[in-house]
Amino acid sequence: MIFGSRPLLTGRVGVLGTEEAFALGSLITDVEAESGRVIRCNLGQPDFPLPAHIAEAVIAAIRAGKTTYCDPQGLPEVRTAIATKVGADRGLDLDPERVVVFAGGRPPIGFAQHAYVEEGDEVIYPSPGYPLFESFIRYVGGVPVPLRLREESGFNFTGADLAGLITPRTKLIYLNFPSNPTGGVAGPAQLAEIAEVILERTGSEVRVYSDEAYEAIVFDGAAHTSIASLPGMEARTVIASGASKTYSWTGGRVGWGVYPSRDEALVHRRLNINYFASIPPYNQLGVLTALQSPDSPPAIAAMVEAFQRRRDMVVAALNAIDGITCQNPLGAFYVFPNVSGVLERLGAFELFASLPEEVTARSSPATLLQLFLLYRYRVASMDRRSFGVLGSDGEHYLRVSVATGDEDLAEAMRRIGRAASDVAGFGDFVASRRRLTL
Ligand SMILES: Cc1ncc(COP(=O)(O)O)c(C=O)c1O
Repeated sequence: MIFGSRPLLTGRVGVLGTEEAFALGSLITDVEAESGRVIRCNLGQPDFPLPAHIAEAVIAAIRAGKTTYCDPQGLPEVRTAIATKVGADRGLDLDPERVVVFAGGRPPIGFAQHAYVEEGDEVIYPSPGYPLFESFIRYVGGVPVPLRLREESGFNFTGADLAGLITPRTKLIYLNFPSNPTGGVAGPAQLAEIAEVILERTGSEVRVYSDEAYEAIVFDGAAHTSIASLPGMEARTVIASGASKTYSWTGGRVGWGVYPSRDEALVHRRLNINYFASIPPYNQLGVLTALQSPDSPPAIAAMVEAFQRRRDMVVAALNAIDGITCQNPLGAFYVFPNVSGVLERLGAFELFASLPEEVTARSSPATLLQLFLLYRYRVASMDRRSFGVLGSDGEHYLRVSVATGDEDLAEAMRRIGRAASDVAGFGDFVASRRRLTL
């Protein structure tokens, strides 16, 4: 006997967001099969190999049989090394029992919502910002509260901007410096303002999740400062980072969080048990070497130098294109040009407005430009909408990653320059309906 019919999938999974960067991969493959190599300015991973000393450590660990389940919180010696390095870099004395190792920097973002956010609690996060801050909130029954980063204020925000969003339901606040996608870096004065607001306006049950995944990638002599280093903030802050960006090791899937208390770390250990059991010990041992070896700082410095050189080139080249303005980011490996003038010239606003609702609900004028660049000029980038949908209407930006070789970047800039005045080509592309959403 069959009982009444119910939907196959839960409403919960229906509201789970995504990271559009992964959608782009298959579109790039299609374009390459049709018309040749695409220049990848969409990448969220450094274009450098895993440094050899780290690769050797992983291989040695596999040979030594470190291929089994292990401590779900992270190997004790790895947690100790993380506590030492994270603490030394931030002037903090950290207990390794407050450290949890994860399968990359992503899991602790959603886990923080599992751990701290009840139905109806508000979660503040930067927008534009890393998409996984927003994508999970409704899945756990939370209420998303985007903290708008405005170009006029250098994609930064003030204590007052944050204060205006805090309510008695605020439970979790994401910060991300250096920022994906803007490259913005907060200096000590800005962090002090933010900390003051948090300490004055929120109770001790409110957590700050400080995503410091790009901590090692800062330019022009700027230094990374963690909000956890400010007086009173260590007890409020989850310090999150990982190996993906610092050691050019996105496939290693090792990230970590340092929690304000051992109890919070134990909750995250339990989440790890439920989801992953444990993180591959051979990769954790690679991280141990990465954190401790004298060969790591020069490898990081060479990568950062390349990113800074390319940032200089790309920012200058983009600003030279009529209709584009681009700020000079101080960190990460992205630039975030305002493309309003180009959209205007290409007639993108009118064309977008003429599209059916089912397209416009999942797209934007900048998305059309992103897809035009991909399909007609073979340059992959990301649109503003991919960095937080809520509040993205009326914001016209692309994210251009400089994690691509110098020559390719120079050629990509020439192609963007040509595309920026290809009014007929753009009209034809939109009319073709080839692909107008991600
Ligand atoms: C701000 C930020 N946090 C976390 C991550 C997650 O990195 P992973 O899961 O690859 O370690 C990323 C990756 O792009 C990021 O940009």
